[in-house]
Parts: sequence; C-alpha cells; structure tokens
Amino acid sequence: MLKSNYFLQSIGRVRPVLTALSMTLVAILWLVGCASRPAKLRQVDAVKPAVHELSPAASLGKLIFFDSTLSASGRVSCSSCHDPEHAYGPANAMAVQFGGVKLDRQGARAVPSLRYTLLHVPRWHQEWAASRFERIEELAKGDNPPTGGLGWDGRFNTPSAQAAFPLLNPDEMANPDAEHVAAAVRKAPYAAEFRRVFGEHVLEDPQKTLAAVGTAVERFQFEDPSFYPLSSRFDQWMDGKVQLTETEQRGFALFNDPARGNCASCHLSQRGADGSHPIFTDFQFEALGVPRNRELKANRVASYYDMGLCGPVRSDQRGERGFCGMFRTPTLRNIATRGAFFHNGRFHSLREALEFYVERDTNPEKWYGKGAGGRVEKFDDLPAYLRGNVDVVDEPLTRHPGQAPVWNARDIDDVLAFLNTLTDADAQGPPTSQSR
Ligand code: HEC
Ligand code: HEC
Repeated sequence: MLKSNYFLQSIGRVRPVLTALSMTLVAILWLVGCASRPAKLRQVDAVKPAVHELSPAASLGKLIFFDSTLSASGRVSCSSCHDPEHAYGPANAMAVQFGGVKLDRQGARAVPSLRYTLLHVPRWHQEWAASRFERIEELAKGDNPPTGGLGWDGRFNTPSAQAAFPLLNPDEMANPDAEHVAAAVRKAPYAAEFRRVFGEHVLEDPQKTLAAVGTAVERFQFEDPSFYPLSSRFDQWMDGKVQLTETEQRGFALFNDPARGNCASCHLSQRGADGSHPIFTDFQFEALGVPRNRELKANRVASYYDMGLCGPVRSDQRGERGFCGMFRTPTLRNIATRGAFFHNGRFHSLREALEFYVERDTNPEKWYGKGAGGRVEKFDDLPAYLRGNVDVVDEPLTRHPGQAPVWNARDIDDVLAFLNTLTDADAQGPPTSQSR
C-alpha cells in the first residue's frame, strides 16, 4: 500500500525581509500585536504515486466519492463540489457552493482543489516556546510558523478525519448523524464489499461506519493517479519536453522575483532535491486581508467574521489573537481553471486576484469600502482591533497609496500566461457561470 507521506526538505531559504537588523523591529511589532510572516525554510514537492491498481479500500472510496445517496438531499456527493473534470475543484464560478437537505444552504468558504495537496500536507503544527521572550525571538527569526492541516484553517489532520465534516455539515451533505450515513451505506450497491473490507459487523456501528467511509475516501484520494497527474505544460517543461514561451518565462521570473512579485516565497516553485516538481504552496498560514465578500449570506451579519485559524469554524485556537485572519496558503496548480479565488471566493477572475496583490496597498479604495468617517476601511473582513495581523512586511504587500503597483498591466499578462502553464492537460475551466 502506498504510504501517506510528505516531503519537507530544508533548503535554507532565507527571507529577504527579515534580516537580523529588523529583529528588534519585529519584536516591537509583535509586542504591539502585529504579526509578521516567518521565514520560508521548507520546500514541499509533489510526488506522483506509483501507478498500480487501487486497493480495495480505495476502490470503495471511489464509489463513495461519487455517491449522492450518501447525502440528505440525495443529490450531493463529494464530486458535486470537487469535480474531477475541474481538477477536483468546483465546476462553476460561484464564490461558495450550495448544499443541505433542499440544496438551498450556502456554504461559507470556497471549495479548494483536491489535486496535489493531500499526500503532501503536513499535520497542523505550531510549536511555541514556553517563555514569552523565546517566542519573540522565534518570531523574529522566523521559526515555527503555523503550518499544515486540512481545510482553509487547517483543522483536520487527515483526509479520513476530514470526510465526516461534509457528510454531517448541514450546508453540505447534511446527514443529521452517523446513523443516517450508515443507513445509506447499508442500502448502497457496495454494502457487501464494504463489509468484506471493513468487517462483517461494521455497518451495525454508525461511528465505525463513518470512520470506515473516511478511510475509504482517504485511500481513494491518496492512491488514485487522477489526484496527481503532473500533466501540465509546466511539468513537461520541468521534464525538458517542451519550451515555455518568452512571455511565460518572463511571468515565471516575476512570480519568483523576491523584490517584485515574491509569490514563490509562499507558493513554492522550485524543483526538489530529488527532482520532484513543486506544488506551489508551503502549507503555511498567512493573513492577506482579502476584502469581505458580500455575496456570502453569513456576512450579512455585521458582527460575523471568518477569521480562519482562530475561528469561529475552527475552535481550538480561539485564544491566539495573532492567528486571526490567517488561512492556509493554497496550491496554485490549476489556478487558471477556477472561477472563484481566496477562502471567501471574493474574486471571480484570476486577473483581479493578481491585481489585488499588487494594488492592495497602492490603491486600497479599489478593494475596500469606506467606513463611518469616510475613510477607506482596509482589511474590512476582520474586526478593527485585529487588522494589525494582516501581512504588510512581505513583498508585494509593503506599498503605500501614491506608489506605483509593483506590476503593470503587461507584467500581469505575463504572470497570467505563466499561471496558465500550471493547468493539467485534462482540467477544464475556468467556469464562467456564477449561477446555480
Ligand atoms: C457542498 C460542497 C462540498 C461537498 C459536497 C464536499 N466538500 Fe470537500 N470541501 C468543501 C469546502 C468548502 C472545503 C473547504 C472547507 C474549509 O476550509 O472549512 C472543502 C475541503 C475539503 C478537503 C480539504 C482540502 C485541503 O486542501 O485542505 C478535503 C480533503 C475534502 N474537502 C474532501 C471532501 C470529501 C471526501 C467529500 C465527500 C465526503 C467532500 N469533500 C464533500 C466543499 C465540499
Ligand atoms: C506571504 C505569503 C504569500 C505570498 C507572498 C503570496 N501568496 Fe498567494 N496566497 C497566500 C495565502 C495565504 C492565500 C489564501 C489567502 C486567503 O484566502 O485568505 C493565497 C491565495 C492566492 C490565490 C488564490 C488561490 C485560490 O485557490 O483561491 C492566488 C491566485 C494567489 N495567492 C497568487 C499569488 C501571487 C500571484 C503572488 C505574488 C504576487 C502571491 N500569491 C503571493 C499566500 C501568499
């Protein structure tokens, strides 16, 4: 059986911004409640699972993944949101998807692609030193950033643990409890096989059934080559099979340039020491200050904020104020196939997402509404007292109104051309329809 493993190699990436000189400054910032992003010390690479027949558990997982009878509506399966033809991301451009018993309940977060990340994402971890002084030192040196876990807030450690969430979430597959899931599996055409793989009496125990469903979909997501095709032009270029155009290469250079785009400091883009291809995320957490998305019903409640790592969906880090607003860096593979960007699906075109990065600070009025005093309310998707958590130290997020954005329109065209090379050969998109 294939091992679920991930590869973290220390390649000694040193962030340009936080030099020893700024250590003191960072310590002060930290004391006044500002977070800074720690150094990027790890490379995470994609590894293609060896092609072999799916294990019995994975084969069951495949049937389950596409089985809408496991939902309360009878119409939602994992694949309704994670469509294999769209790199296991959504097939439409809606910010978030609908689910529930009557398919009228709106989710609150964009659906991530399930390609590439699952075999590689480390467990969520954040090791703080016990003493406050050591913590300040660690932060200044960029050690121990929160990293890993599944979901935008990293709250699940494994795909098997994650699977119960959509099955029981009233906005998604909406089973009221494990018994309903077990009842549906008992009626499924694969019930006998399920018993054979997971034990004769498994279906009599709803909790065991739920856990087995999780194991099965996990095996499918780990083993099936369709989650790790590595068939993009970028991969072919890495393998020396095709050339990138001049425009694409220029875009790639901008993407990597620490002084200009600096994208690769979080969306890692280099080949691993063993030749493996990058997956364009370091799985670390970051607060980018993405604007509030008024398309989301949840956001009609003015006091509601999705603050990612510190809650309210995730509950175990609520005390860590410095984590509020942080979300896990997503992969940029197949990014050009998406119709909604960032955790709240705030943007619907990739160009706009890139413009946000380079104009967030030079032209904040373009992205944020005005507050009571007529002033632009930057970082409006966080309560005012937590807005200091947003990253203003990493390029290209360091500018001020009046300065020129780090990229002009042509630069953006070139980076778009490059990002298009990350689309797998079979992946469709971008979806244009925002309707249901
Ligand atoms: C109604 C839409 C919907 C359905 C149905 C759905 N998901 Fe998801 N999935 C999401 C959303 C939204 C997220 C992000 C959730 C979050 O961050 O809180 C997600 C996240 C995930 C993740 C974590 C990915 C990552 O990179 O962290 C996995 C794995 C996953 N889903 C698998 C499944 C499986 C397996 C099923 C079926 C049992 C399923 N999903 C059903 C919408 C859906
Ligand atoms: C400091 C780390 C960091 C840097 C630098 C960075 N990103 Fe990101 N990126 C993130 C995080 C974290 C998110 C998710 C944030 C959220 O949804 O709130 C993200 C999200 C995105 C998304 C949306 C992905 C999706 O699936 O919705 C795109 C596109 C993107 N980044 C492109 C870029 C580009 C292009 C650059 C360079 C200009 C860049 N990023 C620089 C961390 C970073």
